[in-house]
Amino acid sequence: MEQEIMRIGVSLPENLLTKFGYIIAQRGYSSRSEGIRDAIRNYLTHYEWMSDLQGERVGVITMVYSQAQHGLVDSLIDIQHDLGKIVHSSLHIHMDHDNCLEVIVLKGEGKEVKKAAERMMALKGVKHVKLNITSMIEEF
Ligand code: NI
Repeated sequence: MEQEIMRIGVSLPENLLTKFGYIIAQRGYSSRSEGIRDAIRNYLTHYEWMSDLQGERVGVITMVYSQAQHGLVDSLIDIQHDLGKIVHSSLHIHMDHDNCLEVIVLKGEGKEVKKAAERMMALKGVKHVKLNITSMIEEF
């Protein structure tokens, strides 16, 4: 069934619109509207997928933070020790003088994995956190 198309007006900062325009041109979208529809669909899929966290999941947290932020490194280590056995492994890369990149692999109840990422995200000096969650698919 054909969906009715609604028109909306959106206010955006210029640099966001410029970047978006550049990307949709590169990806070959025929119009900006088509690019925006696709971006919203991706957002909805991602949100629904991230909200369904019943059961065991593997989560990968990718995080960039300032190593100069007082107490931050200790707080991140404390959180990982608190989480105990759901922290599977971590990888630390000294990106430059000020920034560290950390990749943490967790395995446990989906909601706990998400909560762990949110705890780290809330710390001052954490610049960027991305959480990817994969479900444990049993193969028979
Ligand atoms: Ni470092």
